[in-house]
Amino acid sequence: MAEALRVGIAGLGTVGASVARVLRDKAAELTRQCGRDIVVTAVSARNQKRDRGVDVSSAKWFDDPVKMAQTADIDVFVELIGGDEGPARSSVKAALEAGRHVVTANKALLAKHGVALAEIAEKRGVLLNYEAAVAGGIPVIKTMREAMAGNSVTRVFGILNGTCNYILTRMEAEGISFDACLKDAQRLGYAEADPTFDIEGHDTAHKLSILTSLAFGTKIAANDIYMEGISNITQADIRAAGDLGYRIKLLGVAQRTDSGIEQRVHPTMVPTASVIAQVHGVTNAVAIETDILGELLLSGPGAGGNATASAVIGDIADIAKSRPGFQHGPVFGRPAKELKPYKKAQMRSHAGGYFIRLTVHDRIGVFAAIAKRMADNDISLESIVQHAVNGEAEAQKTVILVTHETTEAAVRKAVDGITKDGHLTDKPQVIRIERAG
Ligand SMILES: NC(=O)c1ccc[n+]([C@@H]2O[C@H](COP(=O)([O-])OP(=O)(O)OC[C@H]3O[C@@H](n4cnc5c(N)ncnc54)[C@H](OP(=O)(O)O)[C@@H]3O)[C@@H](O)[C@H]2O)c1
Repeated sequence: MAEALRVGIAGLGTVGASVARVLRDKAAELTRQCGRDIVVTAVSARNQKRDRGVDVSSAKWFDDPVKMAQTADIDVFVELIGGDEGPARSSVKAALEAGRHVVTANKALLAKHGVALAEIAEKRGVLLNYEAAVAGGIPVIKTMREAMAGNSVTRVFGILNGTCNYILTRMEAEGISFDACLKDAQRLGYAEADPTFDIEGHDTAHKLSILTSLAFGTKIAANDIYMEGISNITQADIRAAGDLGYRIKLLGVAQRTDSGIEQRVHPTMVPTASVIAQVHGVTNAVAIETDILGELLLSGPGAGGNATASAVIGDIADIAKSRPGFQHGPVFGRPAKELKPYKKAQMRSHAGGYFIRLTVHDRIGVFAAIAKRMADNDISLESIVQHAVNGEAEAQKTVILVTHETTEAAVRKAVDGITKDGHLTDKPQVIRIERAG
């Protein structure tokens, strides 16, 4: 049998401890699958005394993950610290430079430094595997990088943040407000004490930027993503979506268009009957649309110690099975040096259907004025519904418009015009509609 693969794990928190536990519990099975043993020979975390729920005392302890990255006692450096700078970045860089394979679950690091790190890995002839960085346990990187060779991707979109999907699912199922749902999610441990990163779309954007690079062979451009979170979604939107045959999801979407590549993260209406609309709670899903395959949807657990460990261990096992000269191809599907600059499509040229919810004074002429602003901007309407808002001192109405395909620029101009006309009593709500199978 080939020599054992020696693994060093940096970070023994939720994911790192699960990885150590599964490697121990499944050692015999992994040996059968990989044709060699996988042994944890080194570990690093901040506090050596902390009980991790798994005994790692047989592995050499390192206070400094950079030192561990450079030790000759490991073949694979597994980075599970987190963060786009600091010890995560310096240790991954040190490991690659020292000729160690790297496995990481760190989307923030890859979104910021992925291409530079891929260049080092490819120069050194080592693997940089990151299955767990996007959608946790779902094997989307492997699917895109290996199983879809020869396909040209036209669009990739997904539910990439479990916290947001959990909140939207409960808002719809129980009719409760965003704020109440968020508080409950925090109480149950589904949302961080500071939830901004999740609910405003940053986490989804990090993951999307990696998928975009894989899908379109472009450099990662995480700062060029149009981003809107879910904190403005109200019960009125959720009910109106349901009445119209839609469900609201926070999607990350990357799409090839005539003017470049769109990358956008925003609340989206998807048809209630579509497969992605059936993805509830903390579950994640990624849909990939290609010329040869059509639309593929992968769904499953996007976070959690064991689910994420599953992806990390799959990456480690790939390294155990790989032989020099027989690897899995470049980090982002094409050699890092050949990744094209990202050509950004402007959000204002995004084409699609729109849901527009307006709260207006109940006066003669308001409806006609709204219709005129739409017509002036060449927006044709699929439906228009109005109903009274009950219980307000002043008579108000809700007007809900669903457009046929139009552009973001036209919708923004029309809504700005309606706002200037002075008919609105509340902020207008605009939600994009996404085609989904
Ligand atoms: N949790 C998930 O469900 C999930 C899902 C997908 C991807 N990820 C990614 O996986 C990574 C790890 O996440 P996690 O949830 O496991 O984080 P975590 O529970 O906070 O664990 C982080 C670990 O890093 C260690 N650490 C921090 N600074 C260090 C340093 N300077 N040197 C050595 N070790 C250090 C900590 O040590 P101490 O324990 O001693 O403090 C801790 O063990 C992140 O990149 C995250 O984005 C997580």
